[in-house]
Amino acid sequence: MIKPPEYVSALKAYVPGKPVEELERELGIKDSVKLASNENPLGPSKKALEAAAKNLAGVNRYPDGGAYYLTEALSKKLGVEKGQIVFGNGSNELIDMAVRTFLKPGSEAVMAWPSFVIYPMSIQVHGCHGIRVPLLDFRHDLRKMAEAVTKRTKIVFIANPNNPTGTINRREEFDRFMEEIPHNVLVVVDEAYFEYVTDPKYADSMKHLRAGRNVLILRTFSKIYGLAGLRIGYAVTKPGIAAEINKVRNPFNTSTIAQAAAIAALEDEEHVANSKKLNTAERQYLYGELDALGIKYVPTEANFILMFPGAPAVEVYEALLRKGVIVRPASEDSIRVTIGLHDENVRFIEGLKSIATK
Ligand SMILES: Cc1ncc(COP(=O)(O)O)c(C=O)c1O
Repeated sequence: MIKPPEYVSALKAYVPGKPVEELERELGIKDSVKLASNENPLGPSKKALEAAAKNLAGVNRYPDGGAYYLTEALSKKLGVEKGQIVFGNGSNELIDMAVRTFLKPGSEAVMAWPSFVIYPMSIQVHGCHGIRVPLLDFRHDLRKMAEAVTKRTKIVFIANPNNPTGTINRREEFDRFMEEIPHNVLVVVDEAYFEYVTDPKYADSMKHLRAGRNVLILRTFSKIYGLAGLRIGYAVTKPGIAAEINKVRNPFNTSTIAQAAAIAALEDEEHVANSKKLNTAERQYLYGELDALGIKYVPTEANFILMFPGAPAVEVYEALLRKGVIVRPASEDSIRVTIGLHDENVRFIEGLKSIATK
């Protein structure tokens, strides 16, 4: 049998969750609620759906690989040049594209841990080394991360907000971190959840991009825009960096439907505002209930909450599953729960209560 390089065979394939329909069939339950993947419980914007439907008849043609109209719409919205934007098949693909563009086997990338699992996976696939810097009080320890940078470091990943903790790094500490980071290192700031942030002191990554630093800001249509199934995200960076990344981009990496839906979703500011409002209100509801139950949690700036239910996470996960509530174990003693619609959150809390009283 043909063998891949060792760094590939040593990888573990990503284990996808079962489709909800399959779980329901296996467990003999109905109307389960999915709070496992940080999706928007309100669904996509109606306008995005209409735009998607309108473009279906044209799918015999290849998509516009340059995403001309979406690039135009986004550059206007963000106030950046068109040449500063690259689209990906979800921001997942952009992480991989950044690694493919700037790392070679043996290079290092620094990241916080625990953080988004795709960073180390992508690094290892390319035969590179991931340097994991433990979180401090559930947040990126930016000082230690800057100290971990060596001559071999090409990329530093910052997830802000972080997944699975939902924590952010604030402006002042991020500015200090940028002062400490060598100018030849690419700082990838993954802002998949930035639209949910309410803290006014949230770090301003764009400022550093405008100042000419090597920053790659990743955002996505999968979270607040509710288009996770269409797979589209974007990077904003310096034109020179965008040009290099575009060299490794698959020519037709985002579909016609995804591009059309994304343009309409960008315009539907009301849907984004409603989604944020719901998340902020339901976060308070969940805090109140968790406090009452004496369950420890990490205050969040994203659309999910990391919590410590006081029993092994897998047991809690399985018990909730039998009640039709799907969450995600995050460690041996913690679960990550997406903030859902009010009724869904009530189902989750009721589920937790019934486990606690057993
Ligand atoms: C921190 C972070 N970055 C990126 C992504 C990837 O999102 P997508 O590829 O759907 O844009 C996620 C998804 O869960 C995430 O949590």
